[in-house]
Amino acid sequence: MLKPEIEDGQTRLADPQFRADVLSGLARRPRAIPARWFYDHRGSQLFEQITELPEYYPTRTETALLQSLCGDLREAVGEGRAVVEFGSGSSTKTPILLECLNPGAYVPIDISGDFLRESVRPLAQRFPELLILPFEADFTRPLTLPRTIEDMPKLGFFPGSTIGNLIPLAAIDLLRAMRASLKEGAMLLIGMDRIKGEEVLVPAYDDAQGVTAAFNLNLLERINRELDGTIPVDAFRHKAVWNDDRARIEMHLEATADAAFEVEGRTFDIAAGETIHTENSHKYGPRDARILLRAGGWTPVREWTDADGRFAVILAEAQAERPAP
Ligand code: AVI
Repeated sequence: MLKPEIEDGQTRLADPQFRADVLSGLARRPRAIPARWFYDHRGSQLFEQITELPEYYPTRTETALLQSLCGDLREAVGEGRAVVEFGSGSSTKTPILLECLNPGAYVPIDISGDFLRESVRPLAQRFPELLILPFEADFTRPLTLPRTIEDMPKLGFFPGSTIGNLIPLAAIDLLRAMRASLKEGAMLLIGMDRIKGEEVLVPAYDDAQGVTAAFNLNLLERINRELDGTIPVDAFRHKAVWNDDRARIEMHLEATADAAFEVEGRTFDIAAGETIHTENSHKYGPRDARILLRAGGWTPVREWTDADGRFAVILAEAQAERPAP
């Protein structure tokens, strides 16, 4: 039975995919729940706070990079393209790009219509002349974009190193879906976080104020709220580790004591020290990033990094359907 959920005064059904992912994720070994479920209302608020933390360098670094590369980018991309943003464009990065490029249209794509409409409102006020076409869709699959922009060359925009939250195989599938949606002649501007020392990476995902811990633990609170869970949240702690073999930060929720709980009427036991894997954040060295893009159907043409080489913004061109070896 799906339980009606009270949130923001409204009655909602818990997402059936959330229910399925949580139940199967808690039952499997190692236990794992996909990171996309972090982002309920509270989780999105906590993520906004993360982006402002002193330890969390990616947002700050990428924003400064985008500001500084405008001249180069305008030259490489030209005016009049339709900017297609994969994600809702709620960040401060979108206006920087729109300001810089004077695009023919702006098409933010997001699976959450509510979020999309909310994020588009301030942009419409700030860019009254710009044709804005919010598009509610799952961009992990090839899409037919609005007819109005059919004849415009496209620039895909995928900032934030969100590509890093996918395992490489899924990242390649996503890049290929973007290539298929944007078509011949398209370009892609993508942010990718670089590999660096653990002394920088681990605190970025385990900050002194505990905001990332709250973000991770909120997943358990969400399960309790939406899926009738009885998880003792106090019996879990946030853990962020660098997995050097896979070049990624992993976030886990570690049980600090043996615990038994229910979710949607099913019973689960977890032993002290066992973890639930909740997120991967892959980091890419310069060559790794280029190989990933090529495998995804894109040829890198320009690349910008900050002075410390922490973060890269890469511009790539859509490969022809049958690329040369
Ligand atoms: C959204 N994504 C790119 C963030 C990251 O850095 O992987 C999510 C995040 N998780 C913990 N802190 C930030």
